[in-house]
Amino acid sequence: MTKVTLTVNGRTMSGECEDRTLLVHFIREKLGLTGTHVGCDTTQCGACVIHMDGHSVKSCSILAVQASGSTITTIEGLAGQGELHPVQAAFKEHHGLQCGFCTPGMVMTAVDLINREGGHLTEETVRAGLEGNICRCTGYHNIVKAILAADAEIAGSRQAAE
Ligand code: FES
Ligand code: FES
Repeated sequence: MTKVTLTVNGRTMSGECEDRTLLVHFIREKLGLTGTHVGCDTTQCGACVIHMDGHSVKSCSILAVQASGSTITTIEGLAGQGELHPVQAAFKEHHGLQCGFCTPGMVMTAVDLINREGGHLTEETVRAGLEGNICRCTGYHNIVKAILAADAEIAGSRQAAE
């Protein structure tokens, strides 16, 4: 067993795991953060997306020991001070979730996309940005609408703050 220490949602957290343990299993089973989902065993679905050192990654594609020392944000860490993150609020407003299983990964991917390319996203760039996330309910239309709305909202707030 190896000790893994991470900064998760602003807190230092540690746990012991086997070297073969995937980060997604470590997050769910050792840290008890079950908002990050496992939807496949082929690194295709994106239900497991988290942010590692500021970038979205599929947490089923890395070993927990490889992530040791890094800073992680999971879906549980996105809302601040009792308020939904604008992307979460937009998913709610625009019905961007159906069964909700893919939603945490979709939201984490969307936040990273907006962080990198926000302010000039289009339906095409959002759809391209979501190509690593699968929604089996085929709710993409409303997911794309929600992400575009969140992008506009965030860009508006940034402009107002300048
Ligand atoms: S569980 Fe990670 S991509 Fe499906
Ligand atoms: S809402 Fe995405 S899989 Fe159902």
